[in-house]
Amino acid sequence: MCAMEMKKESLPVFTGEGYRIQPHSDHERLYNIELEAHVIDRFLEEVRNISDEQLEYIPYQRLIVANTLLELLDENFGETIRHILHDRSSGGFTVGLSNRTTDPQDYVKFSTALTHLAGIPNFDAMSQKYYARFSVKHTDDSDSYLRQAYRRFTLHTDGTYVDEPTDWLLMMKMEEENAVGGSSRLLHLDDWEEFDYYYNHPLASYPFTYKAPASKNVSEDVQRKTFYDWNNRPCICFIDQFVYPETIEQAQYLKGLSLSMEESSGLIELELPVGDLVMLNNRFWLHGRAGFEKNPQLHRELLRQRGRFVQ
Ligand SMILES: [Fe+2]
Repeated sequence: MCAMEMKKESLPVFTGEGYRIQPHSDHERLYNIELEAHVIDRFLEEVRNISDEQLEYIPYQRLIVANTLLELLDENFGETIRHILHDRSSGGFTVGLSNRTTDPQDYVKFSTALTHLAGIPNFDAMSQKYYARFSVKHTDDSDSYLRQAYRRFTLHTDGTYVDEPTDWLLMMKMEEENAVGGSSRLLHLDDWEEFDYYYNHPLASYPFTYKAPASKNVSEDVQRKTFYDWNNRPCICFIDQFVYPETIEQAQYLKGLSLSMEESSGLIELELPVGDLVMLNNRFWLHGRAGFEKNPQLHRELLRQRGRFVQ
């Protein structure tokens, strides 16, 4: 059976005390989680005295924040989050703070609660913390496409150049001004028409070398296969900027793969309002960003966390 046929008819709806989880209006594989306003308000009130410094310095505080959210909902909520992220037919959701706050500290706490219901974040070498905040502006002199506004940031998975599992990722929009364009571009591996060709290619399991640019603060190279099995299903590890092919044939394979995914009709563009986040399984979802329209006043700040499931 080809991967396209595995698609589910429609995702189920989960409801519980203080929340409702339903299929996302813009993507049949994603869910949207709606938290009731009183839950958001209570959560923010209860974590008011936990500073971001405490979250950074005392790892157990991050799990305490997760538990604060859990206690305002029913006992199934955490399990449902993990179920969605594991579920091959979905693997992702959006959730937001419904304009109950615009304080960036609240965004850090809320995203921390979500990631610690899913698992444990990896140390982010770029920021030297368990999360990273970064800006996209009109001008940029960095060494990767992460902060370059006017280029398309092509589809990729995260954690390619680190030697630790990156099961999921979270991206939250912290701030945005004068931004037109720049939407998230997402592709579920099972929605990619030419998956079979690239998966069955002799180079599909070739261990390519990945190297990080200086800004990532990672000095060791790693070898990663483009396709591998996880939970008995094919998954992908790829980013065009950090993979170092050694032959023309390898370069052609990687270029063709990237182009084929970029042109897939399964690709969707997702607009994320400020204060909303998207969480995805990083093993069978690829993500990227559309270019912005030119504007000297452009400013966007994002928060990211990547991590692993806890068995
Ligand atoms: Fe990324």
